[in-house]
Amino acid sequence: MSLDMDPEAFRKEAHRIADWIADYFAAPDRYPVLSRVRPGDIRGALPPSAPEHGESFDAIFSDFERIILPGITHWNHPGFFAYFAISGSAPGVLAEFLSAALNVQAMLWRTSPAATELEEVSLAWLRQLIGLPDSFEGVIYDTASITTLHALTAAREVAVPGVRTRGLAGRNELTRLRVYCSEHAHSSVDKAVILLGLGHDALRRIEADEEFRMRPDALVAAIDADRRAGVTPMAVVATVGTTSTTSVDPVGAIAAICARERIWLHVDAAYAGVAAMIPEYRFLLEDAASADSVVLNPHKWLFTPFDLSVLYCRRMDTVRAAFALTPEYLKTSESSDVRNLMDTGIQLGRRFRALKLWMVLRHFGAEGIRARLAEHIRLARLFAAWVDASDEFERTAPVPFSVVCFRARETDEFNAALLERLNASGEVFLSHTKLGDRYTLRLAIGNLHTTERHVGRAWELIRQLAAELKQTSSVPAS
Ligand SMILES: Cc1ncc(COP(=O)(O)O)c(C=O)c1O
Repeated sequence: MSLDMDPEAFRKEAHRIADWIADYFAAPDRYPVLSRVRPGDIRGALPPSAPEHGESFDAIFSDFERIILPGITHWNHPGFFAYFAISGSAPGVLAEFLSAALNVQAMLWRTSPAATELEEVSLAWLRQLIGLPDSFEGVIYDTASITTLHALTAAREVAVPGVRTRGLAGRNELTRLRVYCSEHAHSSVDKAVILLGLGHDALRRIEADEEFRMRPDALVAAIDADRRAGVTPMAVVATVGTTSTTSVDPVGAIAAICARERIWLHVDAAYAGVAAMIPEYRFLLEDAASADSVVLNPHKWLFTPFDLSVLYCRRMDTVRAAFALTPEYLKTSESSDVRNLMDTGIQLGRRFRALKLWMVLRHFGAEGIRARLAEHIRLARLFAAWVDASDEFERTAPVPFSVVCFRARETDEFNAALLERLNASGEVFLSHTKLGDRYTLRLAIGNLHTTERHVGRAWELIRQLAAELKQTSSVPAS
């Protein structure tokens, strides 16, 4: 049996893929942004079983283009304005290429010293750029959902003596636990609470003010009520850049409450935290300096291909206390002198994600990243100004960063139908949310390829399709 692929054939295919990627990056808008396939189309086009005999890469790649590509929704498309628009970047893609080739697992320092130490270095760079003090130690996970789960596991470790050994079930001496977040916090907090065995009821969503920020007075009232009822407050999750509107919770006031009440404070800055790199936004994470943990997602708004999420924690020893466990076969002679990244998480094997962060930071430089973030914010403000100046549309939330929430001054059904038509155009992809029970469209800017022309075109389409919808549709207007 020969190698996996003849080296010369591999070289040829590697060049072909590199060319394909370069062409794709040069014009990601050659494809419709939102895939037009119907459920089951892709599955139906593929054989139900794996081939018995190996096939040529030619045949495989041709099916990639013919069958797989049409089923791709193009997150790199400049008209991608849905959710949090994220984008890969050329240096990030090249890093992923290398990382796949190296197939490194940085579970132990020994299993790849460079992967471990590059993670330390690149996370120290990023920490300095966003202005968190060096009392925060960093570690990379895949997603913010997992990062928040690790942070809240550490919080549980503090709140429940002996939880690692004795668990929660059947311990009559334990009180019920509570985690608090705003009504606008991400659903990853719910999932973490569920997974930690606290029960979904342990999450209390705190009322927000008219600008969608957690109300500190309501938080205090909830904590007081819980203490009176014999419930132990375990953690508060404050959000810097909420998912629907990108509102920023008053972290300073919340941190003061947590310090007074001795409650773990986790700051979810998954989307907006990177904005702290811009001088005018430096204040964003200033109060997070006294939090216990902070999550930041370079795969959201830092041009790092999915996935890469960072936990910065002032109490990483507590994370280690929750997770470190070394079976005999993983013991090494240098363990006391080095960091073994398996100690700070549930995963043993872990991808070499630091490589792409390092390459992205070096390629763009701090100044290059700041300029791109600032441009996205400018474009969002421009779009918001167009909405504000129009009689047909209204804005439904402030625009602190690069997301604009708005709606046609019509019914919810009309706005939902408008969204369907926009997304069927193939030119743009927007998503929606509900604010105060009102259906709201969201335009999120975060893609490297998005320029003023694309935002202008989106606004033109939105107005044109809304006008058409008013004339032709049976959907109730106002
Ligand atoms: C504020 C916030 N936190 C956490 C998450 C979860 O992110 P991930 O997909 O990395 O788990 C999201 C997702 O959009 C988010 O908006």
